[in-house]
Amino acid sequence: MFFMLSISLAYLATGNSQPTFDVGKFGAAGDGETNDSPAFLKAWEAVCGASGKTTLQIPANKIFLLYPLQFVGPCKSSFIHIQVMGKLLAPSANARRNSTSVDCWLCFERVDGLLIDGPGQIDGNGETWWTKVPIHERPTSIIRLIILQALHFHGCNDLRLSGLTHLNSQKNHIGLHNCHGVSISNLHIIAPSDSPNTDGIDVSLSTQILISNTFIGTGSDDCIAVKGGTSNVNITRVTCGPGHGISIGSLGEDGANQIVDQVHVTGCTFNGSDNGARIKTTPGGTGFARDVSFEGITLIASGNPIVIDQHYCNGRDHHCQDQEKAVAISGVTFSGFQGTSADVEAINLDCSKQGCRGITINNVNISSSVGHDVRAVCKNAHGTTVSTVPVVSCLLS
Ligand SMILES: *[C@@H]1O[C@H](CO)[C@@H](O)[C@H](O)[C@H]1NC(C)=O
Ligand SMILES: *[C@@H]1O[C@H](CO)[C@@H](O)[C@H](O)[C@H]1NC(C)=O
Ligand SMILES: *[C@@H]1O[C@H](CO)[C@@H](O)[C@H](O)[C@H]1NC(C)=O
Ligand SMILES: *[C@@H]1O[C@H](CO)[C@@H](O)[C@H](O)[C@H]1NC(C)=O
Repeated sequence: MFFMLSISLAYLATGNSQPTFDVGKFGAAGDGETNDSPAFLKAWEAVCGASGKTTLQIPANKIFLLYPLQFVGPCKSSFIHIQVMGKLLAPSANARRNSTSVDCWLCFERVDGLLIDGPGQIDGNGETWWTKVPIHERPTSIIRLIILQALHFHGCNDLRLSGLTHLNSQKNHIGLHNCHGVSISNLHIIAPSDSPNTDGIDVSLSTQILISNTFIGTGSDDCIAVKGGTSNVNITRVTCGPGHGISIGSLGEDGANQIVDQVHVTGCTFNGSDNGARIKTTPGGTGFARDVSFEGITLIASGNPIVIDQHYCNGRDHHCQDQEKAVAISGVTFSGFQGTSADVEAINLDCSKQGCRGITINNVNISSSVGHDVRAVCKNAHGTTVSTVPVVSCLLS
């Protein structure tokens, strides 16, 4: 009865088919200190249970402190709008000393037709969680505190994310897993360049993904990582740096069978990133990466602008040895690259002994940002090249 009453008070209907719910009406304080998670959960139950075009409003000029939360569907409506005007703030590391690890902070599961937008901020409060001690040397009590993804979508189809600023995630900023039909645009994803493993956007097991007009300047990990089970991804007008570039993979870790196909990256800029366009696979895996293109790319002192690395072993020894099996790489185009490289090896195609097929490199003009020579090196790479500086004479026909 009380619950019904609070819903009807919170229900600022502009018409029966377009209910709007304000988190403040569910008791969220927005003072940056009160734990507003219970209020957000109550608001979510109301939104998820309502029909028609439903809006959850998060008001401006307020800071909502939220502990890890799960927004679970399926919901009644297939159009849910979360309008973020204010700031969502994660707890500091000290506040969660006793907690066990969680996969995500703001976790959406099985919610279809979700739109999250607004000028607001999603602040992972990561400064208090990062430590300069490398992960493998940290006491387990600290490792347990890590939240893997700030904003995570699992099984959310027809998802749109737009306009928000994502700050200082404890680890990855945004993750998509098993989502089909996603548009991400006009985001700013920002973390200091020395923050550990603060990926921008990770995509796995998903299809029909468009990421556009987005700035990603994060710490020591990928701006965007396209992982196993993913196809039909367009990434356009994204600026990356600092960060590790736009990567396919890593694929085939621990012998996994993983596929990625139809990934098209166009009109992007790598500015001071550690890598640019990269495909990475781990020896011993199976599956493939195929039909991948990087076109119209601007480089500003980018590290390793063009990389295929089939000897990738993250966290263990780098430059792993070939094994009997390898993820197959074919049909990869690097075209229209202009600008400067911070590394001598501007183009590095390091394929497994099984070889990469159908590599096309054309209209590339990369010079050094520090006045060195630049060069292309390859191993077992087959394909064609036209008008490329540095010349890729090591590419096999
Ligand atoms: C953590 O656990 C200790 C000992 O059980 C307790 O004294 C302390 O209040 C707890 N801290 C938090 C933030 O829950
Ligand atoms: C990606 O671009 C291709 C070619 O322009 C288009 O056919 C495809 O529908 C696009 N996919 C998405 C998810 O935007
Ligand atoms: C490249 O990054 C530097 C350092 O963050 C910044 O000052 C500069 O404006 C950026 N250039 C472009 C073209 O975005
Ligand atoms: C490559 O770029 C440099 C500097 O941007 C320019 O001077 C040079 O003419 C270009 N070379 C070709 C072959 O386009």
